[in-house]
Amino acid sequence: MNLNIFANPDALHEAAAQRIVHLLRQKPDAVLGLATGGTPVGIYRALVAAVRRGEVTFARVTTFNLDEYVGLPPDHPESYRFYMDHHLFRHIDIPPEQTHIPDGNAADLERECERYERLLQDAGRIDLMLLGLGHNGHIGFNEPGQVLHSKTHVAVLHPQTRKANARFFRSPDEVPTRAITMGLGSIFKAETILLVVKGADKADIVHRALTGPITTECPASLLQIHPRLVVMLDEGAAARFMQTMAG
Ligand code: PGA
Repeated sequence: MNLNIFANPDALHEAAAQRIVHLLRQKPDAVLGLATGGTPVGIYRALVAAVRRGEVTFARVTTFNLDEYVGLPPDHPESYRFYMDHHLFRHIDIPPEQTHIPDGNAADLERECERYERLLQDAGRIDLMLLGLGHNGHIGFNEPGQVLHSKTHVAVLHPQTRKANARFFRSPDEVPTRAITMGLGSIFKAETILLVVKGADKADIVHRALTGPITTECPASLLQIHPRLVVMLDEGAAARFMQTMAG
């Protein structure tokens, strides 16, 4: 594992963005896997700044987002389509048709999952997959449990996930109960996985995921066996690793 610890969130955002910029300068038609949530906002801000400075172009990049809520209209401020347009796509030079997010409003959700999976396969492998980490060890909406799915599927959100995400909604009842998410197989096919985790509240889970047993009860623990996992933590999230190193 390639573990990188940054003194503060801004340094972390800048380093993660620079990793993406570096990839795109080497491979301008790269395929990126993208995440939403609180963690990537600063990374996207840094990427927008890099595009504005002329350091990088997204003109030939293709993107696939990890997931989307079921049942929120695309213009709902908490839909992940809205989030991506708002934080990244609208501010960079990527043609909209090269950005992919599952359609959480499809009439037939199973068919939508199959369509998304086919799109992923047609694109070849994801060059870099950006991941955040849930407090319960989820990646995308692959929640802890007895089974994990390989392909894009409809997931029922774990109560802890709905609670964590309630901060973005007017009331906890508004948090959708289901989402479409890429499966572990789709995520694992990525050439490089960039796991970014911030904040002391994630110190325990990130340590457990990366050093504990590999189990479906902590989906991120599977990342331990990915051949090219790059981990970026701020000092808050890295607290348990720093204790181990100091001890
Ligand atoms: P967060 O979510 O970045 O909003 O903490 C991460 C996740 O749940 O995967």
